[in-house]
Amino acid sequence: MKIAVLPGDGIGPEIVAEAVKVLNALELNFEMETAPVGGAAYEADGHPLPESTLKLAMESDAVLFGAVGDWKYDTLDRPLRPEQAILGLRKHMGLFANFRPAICYKELVDASSLKPELISGLDILIIRELTGDIYFGQPRGRRVATDGHFPGAEEAFDTMRYSKPEIERIAHVAFQAAQKRSKRVTSVDKANVLETFQFWKDVVTEVGKQYPDVALDHMYVDNAAMQLVKEPKRFDVVVTGNMFGDILSDEASMLTGSIGMLPSASLNSKGQGLYEPSHGSAPDIAGKGIANPLATILSAAMMLRFSLNQEAAAQKIEAAVQKVLADGLRTADIYSAGTTKVTTREMGDAVVAALAAV
Ligand code: IPM
Ligand code: MG
Repeated sequence: MKIAVLPGDGIGPEIVAEAVKVLNALELNFEMETAPVGGAAYEADGHPLPESTLKLAMESDAVLFGAVGDWKYDTLDRPLRPEQAILGLRKHMGLFANFRPAICYKELVDASSLKPELISGLDILIIRELTGDIYFGQPRGRRVATDGHFPGAEEAFDTMRYSKPEIERIAHVAFQAAQKRSKRVTSVDKANVLETFQFWKDVVTEVGKQYPDVALDHMYVDNAAMQLVKEPKRFDVVVTGNMFGDILSDEASMLTGSIGMLPSASLNSKGQGLYEPSHGSAPDIAGKGIANPLATILSAAMMLRFSLNQEAAAQKIEAAVQKVLADGLRTADIYSAGTTKVTTREMGDAVVAALAAV
């Protein structure tokens, strides 16, 4: 088994180092190889996703990814921006199914901006389609005026699109995930306005007929955004398109108290996966040793579960994380009075130590 380790930018290298430390402590038999990605790769090779990095990722069973992006690259041409690295990996590896769980750890109930009773026990799974929608629609671009009055572009456009097979396969993923949980799927759309999402709704409904044991409901995205803060526990599995999923998963993550806690998995149909924290590169706190490595460590657990067939090891990591939280250890983002503030590295060390105790 081979893992490609792509730390990336900002806090990426710090948090990935802790996850690698935890993986090494498990003493399982796999090989890890590190490669540059994002702004770091642009600096080194002139491209955010060098050929060699893509090749390594494609050849590996799984990719452990940190984060990419920094404001200093905002003026680069779009194909050279760090974000293109993650979009390119998703597209080239066919990682269409993105799992973003939002779980509220009982120790962190008070870290949420919502009332404890609204979020205690919260466990929802957002399944975001990841290789279609307006993110990858064609045509896209800018139109330049031809009458000479406007030297620059006059309008810009991106195209929202989904094909039937693209919707079908993500719907199957969602229904099958729900079968292992509370057997409820909420499909989020904007069918009242967008043709693409009326189609989405129709196709999801059709696929749902194959899963009579799962209750399906449909919700407009604006209402879903509201319900997520009004009554988040009404949700079990939420399935939606690429852009709505991007937005709603950030919203859902904050319900749990800290985006620093949430892992994610992006899978293709071959069982390969890319595992990354749900949060970004946070360049403002990079290098300070204060970032929370738990989302990346929990992403490594998802990697063991989904791509490396090591369920026992995955559970071990998750139990170790629970233990360090129960022991009161907190990085700055989840710190509250009465707990013990630790650095990124101390948190990683504590998880390694806890592995021996669970
Ligand atoms: C995410 C991020 C990415 C996205 C960016 C970095 C391209 O926001 O993974 O949610 O929009 O998908
Ligand atoms: Mg996002």
